[in-house]
Amino acid sequence: MASSTSDPGADTKSLDSEVEQTELIQNRLYQPWSLNRDASFLPVDDIERERQEGLHHFFQRIFDGRLIFPGPAAKDPERILECGFGTANWACDVAEAYPDATVIGVDVSPHLKPDTTPENLHLQIDDLNDVFTFPGNHFDLVHSQHVVTGIKKHRWPGYVRDCVRVLKPDGWLQFVELHLLVQSNNGTITPRHAIDQLGQAFIGAVDDKRDLRAPTRFAKMFTDAGLQNVEQQVIHIPLNPWMPDPQWSERGREFREAFVDGLEGSLMIPLTQFATLSANEVLALLAHARKELQDESLKPYMALYIAIGRKPNS
Ligand SMILES: C[S@@+](CC[C@H](N)C(=O)[O-])C[C@H]1O[C@@H](n2cnc3c(N)ncnc32)[C@H](O)[C@@H]1O
Repeated sequence: MASSTSDPGADTKSLDSEVEQTELIQNRLYQPWSLNRDASFLPVDDIERERQEGLHHFFQRIFDGRLIFPGPAAKDPERILECGFGTANWACDVAEAYPDATVIGVDVSPHLKPDTTPENLHLQIDDLNDVFTFPGNHFDLVHSQHVVTGIKKHRWPGYVRDCVRVLKPDGWLQFVELHLLVQSNNGTITPRHAIDQLGQAFIGAVDDKRDLRAPTRFAKMFTDAGLQNVEQQVIHIPLNPWMPDPQWSERGREFREAFVDGLEGSLMIPLTQFATLSANEVLALLAHARKELQDESLKPYMALYIAIGRKPNS
């Protein structure tokens, strides 16, 4: 990790202006600095801001409003690190919930952060693929959520190790990620479905760059990095109202809207630049996938992985 916009010295000035630059690709704004260093390939415009905010509120409903899962970490934390702050919704909420704590957020992009933030929140520009330069034994909680498309394929063990190194003894690590391939509860999504074709095309496009199955191995990664009290939970998030329970049916409706709204921005760069699809082919597949997701008999869902673990005291 190399830079910070919260500490603008002379040597960071040119980098600050470089990270702020944007480029229009297929009618969406992206950040060349991030694309060129093969970090995040998500858009950085108002549409993406709305999508991330919507997802934050959606997942907060799933989590019953809880921001921090390990009980002990939610008790008087002194320092909290947020990896990939995005719109900084989680970081702002946690800074407001714990006004005596110092919250530091890191992201490659400054574009989606709010104009005003709580005084105890400090947002920095950095690439999580670089080795952390924070001091060791520093944070009570390190939180990382929905960054799987931005962490390089072979970075995961080092990323977890970095998070663990900067945790205080008895500090907690909390990871939340979706497994991005849409699955079916009754196996009726097949390769003839556009939704599967998009998923497979995405996996193929990023295969040499990203490990989209990393969330399925968080518990092992945490244990391998020396964490204790490791727990992993998997929640199936429906992608339309197919679940009989009325609350989950409504969640399925909400998640489908948020998911389809985000597909174009999230897939355009990988499918057209890392694979050989044209923008029109992507748009055609997306239109088919949108229709398919109306079909409740497909019982589509995505698996959400939540993992926590504690750094041992000795
Ligand atoms: C989908 S958003 C999630 C934001 C937030 N964590 C949340 O859950 O709402 C992913 C964020 O991670 C950031 N990101 C992705 N790869 C990154 C990297 N290598 N280093 C720093 N930030 C990264 C992106 O810029 C984006 O803001």
